[in-house]
Amino acid sequence: MLVHFLTDQPAKIPAVRAMLEPQYDVVSQLLGSSGAPISPSSVLMVDADLREMARVEQIKLVLRELQCISEKLFVVQNHVRSIVAQAYALGATAVVSRPREIITKLAQIEFAEKAAKSGAEDTSSHIAISAAAFTSMFAATRGGKLIDLSDAETATSQIISSIEEKGLSSWLDDVRRYHEGTFQHCLLVTGVAASFALDMGFSKADVQRLGIAATLHDIGKARIPLPILDKPGALDPTEEQIMRCHPVIGYDVLRRLPDINPEILDAVRHHHEYLDGSGYPDALTAPQISDLVRLLTISDIFAALIELRPYRPAISRQEAYKHLCEMEGKLERSLVEAFRTVALVA
Ligand SMILES: [Fe+2]
Ligand SMILES: [Fe+2]
Repeated sequence: MLVHFLTDQPAKIPAVRAMLEPQYDVVSQLLGSSGAPISPSSVLMVDADLREMARVEQIKLVLRELQCISEKLFVVQNHVRSIVAQAYALGATAVVSRPREIITKLAQIEFAEKAAKSGAEDTSSHIAISAAAFTSMFAATRGGKLIDLSDAETATSQIISSIEEKGLSSWLDDVRRYHEGTFQHCLLVTGVAASFALDMGFSKADVQRLGIAATLHDIGKARIPLPILDKPGALDPTEEQIMRCHPVIGYDVLRRLPDINPEILDAVRHHHEYLDGSGYPDALTAPQISDLVRLLTISDIFAALIELRPYRPAISRQEAYKHLCEMEGKLERSLVEAFRTVALVA
């Protein structure tokens, strides 16, 4: 989705780019200067001092040219009533103030657009809310800021609710229809892990704990360069080495949070470890690998195999489960067996 950012302050442009890219393409325009041609499918985001009449007149001029744009987001400081009223008078379709509100609103617009395009009848908000929480966490990590753990809790709760209401298959279909890349992967892993925990009859707290571990497991990928992260096809050895840093990056990012659960930290760092010691980053062996990590690793591998990627044919759930069964010595056999109903039936 393209965001056309209109502002009166050049200094705001890098901050908005850092917040929204690469999730969204951002085109910026300074008020009073001519901007790039704008596509009707863009979202217009206006951040300017609406107390200045000269600014308001400039915005009116730009908006006259942009009647075709349906979504007009105005950023105002602290929701001051007179300024909010001015924004709506100018044609705002939504007024936001904090970065979190901006990201949530954009995720909702993007989801509604994709749902409308695909003709989907069910536009459940579970996926939009959880995707917005992922956007917020990845943007914070990419920008060197601490994530808000409530985002991980929100995403996890939304995904668990969706699985409970409609089952795993429906969640997998929805995610693969609306999301791609790392977001698709994280949403799928959390759905699979939640389904696994529910199927095993775990307590509510344990389902939530595995769900949060799944939500956060690849947060370190936010710091992996995009050409490597999104490379279509196999990575070369140097790229592979960089990619393999993501569990430690995720661990380092999360351990700065005072409220982080040590079990979740352990799961983030060790979700690529195998029982036979052939995994990374610490080459742990069976006695050192917790149950939470074992469950997460199975969910992660299965979800990665069934992801839709533009450069390879889709792998069926049957084939993906067969692959898990063939990973002799690496995964706990009894858990892989217990996973069968999740993989093939749920
Ligand atoms: Fe990973
Ligand atoms: Fe993963």
